[in-house]
Amino acid sequence: MCGIVGYIGPRDAYPILIKGLKRLEYRGYDSAGIALLNEGLNVYKCRGKVADLEAFIHDKDISGTLGMAHTRWATHGEPNDVNAHPHFSQSENLAIIHNGIIENYQTLKEELINRGHQFSSDTDTEVLIQLVEDIIENENVELEEAIRIALNQVVGAYAIVIISKDDKDTLYVARKGSPLVVGIGENEFFLASDATPIVEYTKNVVYLDDEEIAIIRRNGDFKIKTIKNKEKTPYIQKLELNLSALEKGGFDHFMLKEIYEQPKSILDSIRGRLRPNGEVILGGILDYEQKIFNARRIIIIACGTSWHAGLVGEYLIEDIARIPVEVEYASEFRYRNPVITEDDVVIAISQSGETADTLAAIEMAKSKGATILGICNVVGSSIARATHAGVYTHAGPEIGVASTKAFTAQVTILILLALRIARKKGHITQSKYHQYFHEIELIPEKIEKTLMVNKFVKEIAEKYKGARNFLYLGRGYNFPVALEGALKLKEISYIHAEGYPAAEMKHGPIALIDEEMPVVFIAPNTGTYEKVVSNIEEVKARKGKIIAIVTEGDTAVRRLADYVIEIPETEEFLTPLLATIPLQLLSYHIGVMRGCNIDQPRNLAKSVTVE
Ligand code: M6R
Repeated sequence: MCGIVGYIGPRDAYPILIKGLKRLEYRGYDSAGIALLNEGLNVYKCRGKVADLEAFIHDKDISGTLGMAHTRWATHGEPNDVNAHPHFSQSENLAIIHNGIIENYQTLKEELINRGHQFSSDTDTEVLIQLVEDIIENENVELEEAIRIALNQVVGAYAIVIISKDDKDTLYVARKGSPLVVGIGENEFFLASDATPIVEYTKNVVYLDDEEIAIIRRNGDFKIKTIKNKEKTPYIQKLELNLSALEKGGFDHFMLKEIYEQPKSILDSIRGRLRPNGEVILGGILDYEQKIFNARRIIIIACGTSWHAGLVGEYLIEDIARIPVEVEYASEFRYRNPVITEDDVVIAISQSGETADTLAAIEMAKSKGATILGICNVVGSSIARATHAGVYTHAGPEIGVASTKAFTAQVTILILLALRIARKKGHITQSKYHQYFHEIELIPEKIEKTLMVNKFVKEIAEKYKGARNFLYLGRGYNFPVALEGALKLKEISYIHAEGYPAAEMKHGPIALIDEEMPVVFIAPNTGTYEKVVSNIEEVKARKGKIIAIVTEGDTAVRRLADYVIEIPETEEFLTPLLATIPLQLLSYHIGVMRGCNIDQPRNLAKSVTVE
């Protein structure tokens, strides 16, 4: 949800800012803009992507060693040139970029209009910079103090950068609820919404905390104060991010690269956690294990794909570890006054670690005394820091907006957790435990094998790329996989798709089936296999087109289906890790064939930092 980059130092700011915007474009891509401070304060912005901004700027003055840039995902005001960031204050002495939402902007705007301010955009962001200028003029204070006073008046979330025409040596930065990282180089500083634009310049970073303002000066002076004016010592951390992880590495799209990375990302998720002595160790939550073992119930909160992983977690933890589990959409949970006690353990799942609804749900559950654990991919993210303890998925940066490798990594962590609890609580026999342990170790290899269906899946995509609707059906552990398959197709190809528990089909969706309707069944030879075969018969009888994910060597489904995609044999609870792969590929190829923007689907952003 909007990407922010900033630079101050001896180098030209423009190339650093543009490159940084490209790295952050996954966060929003409906308009982009840049501000450069040289003799004057030059602001260039336009509707469209970073490439459009570059084209727009090509004949402009791009000099300056201090600057900031923004790529937008619109909340207030349609995506157009005027609403693009940066925004000037009325005098055009100050400029701001912002990620987040100022919730009380209407009230503030009315007050400012009454005091003679005029607005040129529809954004909440312009209100904030006008407010800062109003405070400077009316309260006769310096910019730093004015920012502090203004931030005490705003309600909502922000990551902001402000620069002033009259101060060529300072960047003012602040955050609340939206992420901001400061990279510390040799006599230079970099700012960004996440570390990806920074990593090639420095590995030393400071993650700003909520309600902190950083004042960054060209002479190397770097101060952090709270909005209550309390000075803080910056906590410098080392980035463990590899630059090659941010490139497409020969693939046409990040999504495809990330699908193919899954054997490795799963290996990275289990590395060091499946110990040679047969123990499963999740180091990040060791101190909270007794809480987990004694939990009255586990509540999993998440959004989107992470919620689907949570649903697999529900099946897993109840089945193997015998603790009651509820899975909630964070956006619903936070507003519905749920019964939560100190005996509950809440697990928040998030790839980005920045999802606003998940973050708010965490705070709510925390205030009611629950223990909060996180499963996050982005190290140092807001959710990782807001939880009592957590486990990182270690899937590596996920750049494609459609989540792929993060999903399988999240499921992997939930598998390890379920197995650990089952073992410690004595809900699993020694031999079953070892059998499961060994089977998990084989999963990266089996994913590698599953990826070999790619060419065949492409043929299926060719056949059904023109469909107007798709139905995805699965049962038990593979019901969430059906939901995830449908979500991937919607996001990437804009084809309407529904995921359902296979047995629910006869309670309604069966009415949709005719010879035009492709129905994707997830039908491995485990659990309710026979029941799913009956559901396939029901679709066949109504002339639906059947694409089925089956276990190698399957014959019963092959007789009925138009296409069968084989996955290797495995334990039932591991089938989601394999069955998901062909579904990711199917949506990818259909999206490509329909000419869709794979890595940046319309209207979406990678991390949803607004409600
Ligand atoms: O970063 P998070 O895992 O918290 O994000 C949650 C959802 O926004 C995310 O999974 C979204 O649904 C993806 N676009 C799915 O591909």
